[in-house]
Amino acid sequence: MNNTFAKDIIDGLTAKNKHLSSKYFYDDNGSRIFQEIMKMPEYYLTDSEFEILSLQAQQIVEALNFDQPFNIIELGAGDGFKTFKLLEYLVDKAIDFNYIPIDISKEAINILTKKLKERLPKLSIQPKVGDYFKILHETSKTDTPSLLLFLGGNIGNYPEDDALNLLQLFNNNMNTNDKLLIGMDLKKNPITIHNAYYDISGITKRFNLNLLIRINREFDADFKIDDFDFYCHYNPVNGAVKSYIVSLKAQEVHIKKLNTVISFEQNELIWTELSKKYALTEIEALSKQAGFNVKNHFLDCKHYFTDSLWEKLA
Ligand code: AVJ
Repeated sequence: MNNTFAKDIIDGLTAKNKHLSSKYFYDDNGSRIFQEIMKMPEYYLTDSEFEILSLQAQQIVEALNFDQPFNIIELGAGDGFKTFKLLEYLVDKAIDFNYIPIDISKEAINILTKKLKERLPKLSIQPKVGDYFKILHETSKTDTPSLLLFLGGNIGNYPEDDALNLLQLFNNNMNTNDKLLIGMDLKKNPITIHNAYYDISGITKRFNLNLLIRINREFDADFKIDDFDFYCHYNPVNGAVKSYIVSLKAQEVHIKKLNTVISFEQNELIWTELSKKYALTEIEALSKQAGFNVKNHFLDCKHYFTDSLWEKLA
């Protein structure tokens, strides 16, 4: 059992406005539900980024302007399928580089490594399990230039200050000339965004409610899942999708392992997730604040998503 998780549950559920972080969505079940989300036609993010890395690999690699050999360090690699097209391009062109996928899940890294060794036998791969920054600190000690990948729109889950902190931490662990390719979801027709998160098949609802199932299992709690619902809302003015779990009645939940009882009023909310959508000008402002300059924005043909290439300012 995990102590930070325990503390975050107590803090989040005793706060005036209840909240639980979406980072806890990803237990084994949650990771599987997220795979289902990525396959939904409404969830355009996956297809958009796949298109960018498939059709613009050459332009991305040229924009790096790296001497060989170089490193590609992927933060939160997961199953890594979106990166496959970029890696395939580099291997096909016999470009000399080393792929270093990093993830906190040992299982994810093992699956990824096995798949890549089968499909790209010539790929030089050095998988790592653990904390991003420890590993980045090591790689920044070498003279080999590095491209950091932070893909999928994961930055959108961080509230503004946290996003800036994280990007500054990346910056501090990079050498001049190192680059960051960061996937960010763009502002677009609000209905398109609404449909991607408030899907009619209810997969995103299951994704959220799985957090309660996880707390039941790990902390011996008695959340009655049917007494909770899901709601989310996109605010096109500030670009924030906010997701919530809704208590359908006044109820008490016992969390035995935490010796805690939580009371809910009818219709009380637990805020679970922020998925921020950006304008290109906002991305440029954020990059500057974190010590970077945007070298290129690589967009999909619908202009739904960008993989932006950031260079560290000297
Ligand atoms: C994995 C963080 C990019 O915010 O779009 C998908 C997670 N949440 N549907 C996102 C998610 C609801 C996703 N990210």
